[in-house]
Amino acid sequence: MDVTRIRSDFPILQKEIKGKPIIYMDSACMSLKPKQVIDAMLEYYEEFPACAGRSIHKLSHWVEESRRNARDEMKQFIGAKKSEEVVFTRNTTEGMNLVLNSFPLGPGDKILTTDREHNSSLVPSQLIAKRKGAEHHVVLSNSDYTFNMDNFLGAMTPDVKLISFVYSSNLDGYTLPVNEIIGAAHDNDTMVLLDAAQTAPHHKLDVRKLDVDFLALSGHKMLGPTGTGVLYVKEEHYDVLEPFMVGGDTVDWSTYDNHKFLDPPERFEAGLQNYASELGLAAAAKYLRKIGLDKIERHEQKLNRIVNDGFSEIENMHFVGVKNPDQRGGITAFNLGRLNCHDVAMIMNRNYGVMVRSGQHCVHSWFAARGIEGSVRSSLYLYNTGEEAAVLVEAAKEIAKLH
Ligand SMILES: Cc1ncc(COP(=O)(O)O)c(C=O)c1O
Repeated sequence: MDVTRIRSDFPILQKEIKGKPIIYMDSACMSLKPKQVIDAMLEYYEEFPACAGRSIHKLSHWVEESRRNARDEMKQFIGAKKSEEVVFTRNTTEGMNLVLNSFPLGPGDKILTTDREHNSSLVPSQLIAKRKGAEHHVVLSNSDYTFNMDNFLGAMTPDVKLISFVYSSNLDGYTLPVNEIIGAAHDNDTMVLLDAAQTAPHHKLDVRKLDVDFLALSGHKMLGPTGTGVLYVKEEHYDVLEPFMVGGDTVDWSTYDNHKFLDPPERFEAGLQNYASELGLAAAAKYLRKIGLDKIERHEQKLNRIVNDGFSEIENMHFVGVKNPDQRGGITAFNLGRLNCHDVAMIMNRNYGVMVRSGQHCVHSWFAARGIEGSVRSSLYLYNTGEEAAVLVEAAKEIAKLH
């Protein structure tokens, strides 16, 4: 993988801040954007800035056609059978909420989550269970923070109707054994909703092979524009979901006392959509596919090993979450002795130009259960280099001396 060439596609990486290069390691929150994505968005605004579908003029036709191509690109990116299984959303949170709010649950039913869910999965699960009189159960991890299959299988009682699991965690980059999980869930007639926000940017998705029922991802973590996402809904389940956000674009016809919904995906895409960003997202997916997700994943693991090896030499280094770099994506979460995680992140930025995230990363429940205040999180991606990983290690070594 030619990282130098890749870096030349990213306008922000050509800039400096106060004479220092930008060492960006916060991609789990928001990835940087290549010019191909920016150009795709500009094309919409400059060439056909009109409505899709609703009008019969030429500009509208072009938007419609571009959206169709964009949906097709996303179908390929996730390995879906049909483009109609791709619902455009604003982000993973919207996709998770859409499924959880629309799924038929009632008193006596159960939703399972893991103990390392992002709030986007945990909080709607808690809320929906409460509203519908269902129960919400949390599957606890092993003591080394890996997935505990026995706990999961023990929790898979016949009343479990839906599991809402994170595919790869934003806490530490750990990927769950989703094949086994989905197999066991289906044996129990339980449907599976996967939060793939941290998987889609790094790992080749194949929803058909996984046989997952629903899967949500965010475009902005995979080089796409901000506020973009996709929800995969398996064709066989279109009618399982009762649309919860309805109105413009979701409806075929209405009278004063009745209405008929459109077929999916439009049934689930309420109101005028973010066309420019959808085209940008498709450009991002195309860009990643062209490089190859397998190459990107290997590159990140190589960088992760540099970080892990260097960090392991630091005496008061505490890894947060799973320690084995081969079990993680580009994420490393850590604390340096008793130094406050925000202070560490601030010094990294100010003294070394290294941009990392600090805090609880929207997984407050996990930190609260363990009495940990937070962590520093570096998240590396295809544009990061071995030299940058070494700067991160050096910065951590120096800052650790302040302890
Ligand atoms: C694992 C995971 N799930 C869900 C989300 C929420 O993503 P978004 O804010 O794009 O909806 C994130 C964001 O960091 C995440 O890392």
